[in-house]
Amino acid sequence: MSPDKRYHLTTFGCQMNEHDSERMKGMLESIGYSEAASRADADLILFNTCSIREKADERFIAHLYEARAIKRRAPETIVGVGGCWAQSVKDEVFARFPFVDVAFGPGQVPKLAEFLTSDSLSAQGFFEFESFTGHLPAKRAREHQGWVQISVGCNCACSYCIVPSTRGREVSRDPDELVAEVRSLAADGVREVTLLGQNVNSYGRDLRGERRASFAELLGRIDAIDGIRRIRYTSPHPKDMREDVIRAHAELPALCEHIHLPLQSGSSAVLKRMRRTYTRERYLDRVALIREHVPDCALTTDVIVGFPGETEADFEATLELVEEVGYDGAFTFAYSPRRGTEAADLPDQIAHELKVERLERLVEVVQRRAAERARRFVGRRLEVLIEGPSRTDPARLRGRTRHNKVVNFDGIGEPGELVEVDIAAASSQTLSGAMSLVGPLRG
Ligand code: SAH
Ligand code: SF4
Ligand code: F3S
Repeated sequence: MSPDKRYHLTTFGCQMNEHDSERMKGMLESIGYSEAASRADADLILFNTCSIREKADERFIAHLYEARAIKRRAPETIVGVGGCWAQSVKDEVFARFPFVDVAFGPGQVPKLAEFLTSDSLSAQGFFEFESFTGHLPAKRAREHQGWVQISVGCNCACSYCIVPSTRGREVSRDPDELVAEVRSLAADGVREVTLLGQNVNSYGRDLRGERRASFAELLGRIDAIDGIRRIRYTSPHPKDMREDVIRAHAELPALCEHIHLPLQSGSSAVLKRMRRTYTRERYLDRVALIREHVPDCALTTDVIVGFPGETEADFEATLELVEEVGYDGAFTFAYSPRRGTEAADLPDQIAHELKVERLERLVEVVQRRAAERARRFVGRRLEVLIEGPSRTDPARLRGRTRHNKVVNFDGIGEPGELVEVDIAAASSQTLSGAMSLVGPLRG
């Protein structure tokens, strides 16, 4: 293979895909590829896709047609499609998009390297659930922040969700291997790790014998690693949010005061049809337990409106719950029917206009409560991990608090440094302030 091949990779979807893309890049560079500045400059045009909602599909397909246009001008270009969309359509991709050369699911990323280093000229698809991307070399987007894939797949059966079919059954990675991986990240300058899994806090249930470890135990072992100053994880499931994990937030110095706890709906009847396996009361009980052990913990969530059969009363139950909990932030989605899921065939699908109206009403409450919650930070001095220049004013810096709030601030420092910032103002999305004059924190 000639040493000067270049790839261009576009990533869609969640943090797991961002992680997988870093591994794809690491793998491609290990076989001699380098990154191209644009698609038109690339020998290999790659997409790491998402299929969580219909919009995700539409966005990606517009990009895929751009790749076709490039390939018409430069027929030698290889077009590759990985990730959840690829997995969900499998070999159909070649009939629908004949210019695609290689397609692979999230469990088959290493096959991309095999394909590229073989002499095969025919289109190929790889869709077994076989390997962890976490075993591949990584090319990190941020020097001081690292993703750690602790498990793959999902054993839940949420009736709206395509993920169990695109990521397969849940498999946890060996805890010793994960600790070794985080140690080497720390040695490489990583300060903050985010542990990833589709249902991250059910980690370890499938491990046997000496390898057995719970999620809380894994958190403890990672917290003990020198150099790791912040630990985050996403996404936990409320049904698996056990007290030992909540206590860990109070006890482990590196574990951040932020929990993303996906709600989906505040109506027990809707939760039941969603097959979430908890009720409104059980969810609120988890929130109460979090607030009891970690009073200042930031809470964020995901909410779906317009699930089939959602009545005005169901929706109001969601609004009330969001009002009551007072989230620090929330991702809000209009229900989108996905191929092959149970909910797509349920009766009483909700009209688009009604979904949009409910979304607007929900967003109003989310933002108002988030702005109210953010005010508790004004006047406090908070530890901030610098990420780079502020996006709105390059003369200022941008960083993140342990609560996962973005802060724009006046100060001097390099990405990856932990500094103290006096918070002067807050909106629903961001905080603003100035670096404290006592100088950088230890570390
Ligand atoms: N494994 C994670 C992430 C799932 S996808 C978890 O369970 O939390 C992220 C969010 O997308 C979900 O929490 C849900 O709110 C939303 N989502 C998933 N499928 C959807 C669908 N069909 N329509 C609308 N939103 C959906
Ligand atoms: Fe989808 Fe539910 Fe699994 Fe999350 S827990 S990935 S929403 S099936
Ligand atoms: Fe999308 Fe797959 Fe993540 S469907 S949200 S990329 S798990």
